[in-house]
Amino acid sequence: MSKILIFGAGYLGTKFHDAAPGSVLSRADIADIQQVNASIEEYQPDVIVNFAGKTGKPNVDWCESNKPATMRSNVVGALTLASACVERGLHLVHIASGCIFYGASPDPAGWREEDFANPSAFYSRTKYAADLVLSQLPDVAIVRLRMPIDSAPGDRNLITKLAKYPKIIDVENSVTVVDDLMNVIHGIIEKRGVGVFHAVNPGVMRHRDLMALYTELVDPAHSNEWITEQDLVNQGLATKARSNNIMQSSRLAQLGIQMRPIDIALRDCMEKYAAATKAASEPE
Ligand SMILES: NC(=O)c1ccc[n+]([C@@H]2O[C@H](COP(=O)([O-])OP(=O)(O)OC[C@H]3O[C@@H](n4cnc5c(N)ncnc54)[C@H](OP(=O)(O)O)[C@@H]3O)[C@@H](O)[C@H]2O)c1
Repeated sequence: MSKILIFGAGYLGTKFHDAAPGSVLSRADIADIQQVNASIEEYQPDVIVNFAGKTGKPNVDWCESNKPATMRSNVVGALTLASACVERGLHLVHIASGCIFYGASPDPAGWREEDFANPSAFYSRTKYAADLVLSQLPDVAIVRLRMPIDSAPGDRNLITKLAKYPKIIDVENSVTVVDDLMNVIHGIIEKRGVGVFHAVNPGVMRHRDLMALYTELVDPAHSNEWITEQDLVNQGLATKARSNNIMQSSRLAQLGIQMRPIDIALRDCMEKYAAATKAASEPE
């Protein structure tokens, strides 16, 4: 079994750590080469998974007004960690984002792994800046996910986020079910995959589909207003327009790694989410 060293003790990094017995979660600053080297020397891993980055709190609009800190983690940090891996011939799995693609894709079926992106928001620009360099290095896998959907309720989960919004944009997107993402990362480690991978569940998810499932399985009393993408900015609900897009994923299949079709994964996820919500509301 590979010795896995994880950087980025946030939402997804902690989840992956919990799902990878024997892995170690480093607290090092990835933009500080001394801290990175010390972590690697201490644990002597076979593979590094990088979940560290500035994602913006409460949301990515934070990155627009904190550009130096965002650049330091998402660009300098990613490159610093990659340099340490290249020096040692270590496999690096870098967690990236599908939010670098805006709108219609060159291929009508969706954005491909090899397409050049068109990021607008500063967060997306920094994620893509790292991708452009890391995708050219040996032994680096770039795993792009989109809008994680999780069976555990929480502030970073798209289900929990949308359920709290009185107004939701009526769009369709490629999305990533977190249970499937965990399997994808394990598969890439096992097969020592390199290059860019789109870790999105096959099919398209409309926010309307997600909320219909939420109403069916979690809260029959739920209701919200539907607005357009432009309304989101016009009504002051976001500073920058969000990336909405459809992504193709062909490279995972080449490695023999499958993600479940979105309708199946989404229902399974929502059933678990409903069970977790019910358990949390019941007296002990
Ligand atoms: N969640 C999503 O919607 C989503 C979607 C697509 C892609 N991704 C990518 O997935 C990765 C993980 O995201 P997440 O949702 O787990 O975000 P998260 O909860 O914000 O976790 C990121 C973690 O990295 C830490 N970090 C920031 N700069 C660092 C540095 N220089 N050195 C070490 N740690 C640092 C953050 O600490 P602080 O909070 O103290 O800064 C945070 O604990 C990110 O690269 C993100 O871009 C996430």
